[in-house]
Amino acid sequence: MDDHSLGVLMKFDHYMPVPIHFGWGRLSELGEVAASLGRRALVVIGRGSVRRSGALDRALDSLKGAGVEAVVFEGVPPNPTSMVVYEGARLARSERCDLVVGLGGGSSVDCAKGVAVAAVGDRPVWDYVTGELPKKALPVVAVPTTAGTGTEANPYAVLTNPDIKEKRALNRPPFTYPRASIVDPELTLSLPPRQTAITGMDVLFHALEAFVGNRSQPVVAAMAEQAIRGVARFLRRAVRDGADREAREGMSWACTAAGMAINGGGTTALHGMEHPVSTHLDVSHAEGLCALSGPYLRYLVDV
Ligand SMILES: [Fe+2]
Repeated sequence: MDDHSLGVLMKFDHYMPVPIHFGWGRLSELGEVAASLGRRALVVIGRGSVRRSGALDRALDSLKGAGVEAVVFEGVPPNPTSMVVYEGARLARSERCDLVVGLGGGSSVDCAKGVAVAAVGDRPVWDYVTGELPKKALPVVAVPTTAGTGTEANPYAVLTNPDIKEKRALNRPPFTYPRASIVDPELTLSLPPRQTAITGMDVLFHALEAFVGNRSQPVVAAMAEQAIRGVARFLRRAVRDGADREAREGMSWACTAAGMAINGGGTTALHGMEHPVSTHLDVSHAEGLCALSGPYLRYLVDV
């Protein structure tokens, strides 16, 4: 790999304000973290896996133990839509929530970011995607249960507008940065092999794209390298044996490191090409990336 720290006349900005609480069992600290940000949390989850795994109960216990009330918003689909965000925001307002917890895969956390903006904004969330600047947002705590999007370490929330068949990132720092993220590898233990594999490839492509992109800089390169090495070492192991704790931990860190890499470096044409694919076809983001990666990587080798 090129050493991006050896450049001359470097000029770059770096900003990553999210406190990351990384380690086994740290879901138990959710209540303490949340209590520093609010008193009544909207807990945004997907379609039931965090219920089945017990993660939701543990999260609710932790919140209750710290004196934080919780309202659960359940049913976020794999590609969260502006309509789902609207429903979540409406619930947050009617329940007078002052905090949003995103517990689940990237879709739940991204939806939580959208809800946090829409709940206190006076416009539909898509206006904030396309250019309107929020004046405020509820604080978000991100608790990822997959090693995939890295949304816990950046201000991006990928949302879909089904009316115009468009998928774009809500990217409104500082409001869409989580105010804190809990990255607990234990939460990934129940992820099935296929999901582990494709979300792990999302990690790889975040790191690769940030590294080769024209906004790469030393911090981006360092985080990307951590992520690429982590995927190379641990992804196969995590797919073959989901109970391999060292591999799960390695992938959780690779995911967060890749999230930090795209925080500074962004993504490139591969993610740009993928978003229309998973908007128009019934595939996940990671499946779309895998399908497009062959031609993209051949293009990279050529340039
Ligand atoms: Fe991605």
